[in-house]
Amino acid sequence: MAANNKLLINNEWSSSLFMVMITTIVLSSSQLSLIDCRNYEHSSTEMALTNQVVIQQRDCYPNETPIFIHTAASTSGKYFNRRQVIRRTWAREAYKYKMRILFVMGVPRDLSIERSLKMEADKNHDILQFNFIEDYYNLTLKAISLLKWSYRHCSNSPYMVKTDDDVVLNMPMLYQLVRQRKIPSGLTGLVMTTPANRENGHKWHMPEHLYPKDSYEFLAGFSYLLSMDKLKSFLKTIITYPGPILDIDDLFLTGIVADYGKIRRNNSFRFKFFCGTDVCTMETSLAMHACPSAKNSEYMYRFWKNADRLSCYRHFRLSRSYRRRRPRSISTTTTTTTEHISNDQIIANYTDYLIDSHQLIGFKFRQP
Ligand SMILES: *[C@@H]1O[C@H](CO)[C@@H](O)[C@H](O)[C@H]1NC(C)=O
Ligand SMILES: *[C@@H]1O[C@H](CO)[C@@H](O)[C@H](O)[C@H]1NC(C)=O
Ligand SMILES: *[C@@H]1O[C@H](CO)[C@@H](O)[C@H](O)[C@H]1NC(C)=O
Repeated sequence: MAANNKLLINNEWSSSLFMVMITTIVLSSSQLSLIDCRNYEHSSTEMALTNQVVIQQRDCYPNETPIFIHTAASTSGKYFNRRQVIRRTWAREAYKYKMRILFVMGVPRDLSIERSLKMEADKNHDILQFNFIEDYYNLTLKAISLLKWSYRHCSNSPYMVKTDDDVVLNMPMLYQLVRQRKIPSGLTGLVMTTPANRENGHKWHMPEHLYPKDSYEFLAGFSYLLSMDKLKSFLKTIITYPGPILDIDDLFLTGIVADYGKIRRNNSFRFKFFCGTDVCTMETSLAMHACPSAKNSEYMYRFWKNADRLSCYRHFRLSRSYRRRRPRSISTTTTTTTEHISNDQIIANYTDYLIDSHQLIGFKFRQP
């Protein structure tokens, strides 16, 4: 793989895509274990790929906040479903709040699906694709790509947001914070402090020679914000950082690089590592992570949208009378899909989910 990479230097994306294609064919016909190897750090050849856009989108409008969502280059299954759910729920509100959604992906190993990815992009205008192979251990390349892209295409935006595709964002809250410029300069998210992982074979294993310190402090990667006034110095720091470019994106960029470039990390309780199971959590969070499945996050979102949002402590009463006096109807009218889900169905299924997952503790449901 490393030898083949060298061939990619200085190529236009189209020709390197071709090389990637050859590489992929060679690899898939030989050994899968080669594909799964982890290098822990990125070469300058790989770093160069963060400038190469395969599927492009328009520039941001002035003052438009871009929201970049890490997703995988597949056209079916989990990741595709997550994109569809995001499109049906919080992404649908983006434009009204002067925000835009961009799903960020690499190049799939199976290039036969590239055509469908292009079709999905043409249909939704929300896919940005960069020219490195889609892989969990290429997420640092992905995060750097979107920072560079932002610098070139969204320089008149006040903030940028990075999230994962298993996150629900509270768009009205984000809009308020952005509009009132309430988000401090630098990085904002959930500050994590963890010991460096020395367990061989672990997903987040970190060899001592690459990171000698015992612990890291960084922002949890599921969602964070960066004020644009710091984007240039952040990028400059990434480019001039003398140490290894590590393949764990959040701890490398929001931890090691941010420290090196003296970019402030601001902790915010509004970023929740675990998905809430009630409207109140959603109401008080900016970003909620690890929603059990795409479908559940869709139910939750619709449930939240439909609840009496100003009184989040009163609403845990799923009685008939509550359902009847519900003030806002969910915006199924603007849905782009043909499926029509009724409010009662959503509430029923969401309640089932709460009961199934034994997460009712602390909440009182009034008997109908
Ligand atoms: C990351 O992308 C590069 C460039 O496409 C590729 O050579 C490499 O194999 C990818 N890394 C992983 C771990 O798949
Ligand atoms: C985060 O930002 C707030 C508001 O600007 C500030 O008061 C606070 O000190 C900051 N926290 C950190 C850890 O920088
Ligand atoms: C709700 O759950 C029922 C039973 O599992 C299922 O048949 C139905 O399709 C679900 N409704 C929605 C809107 O997903």
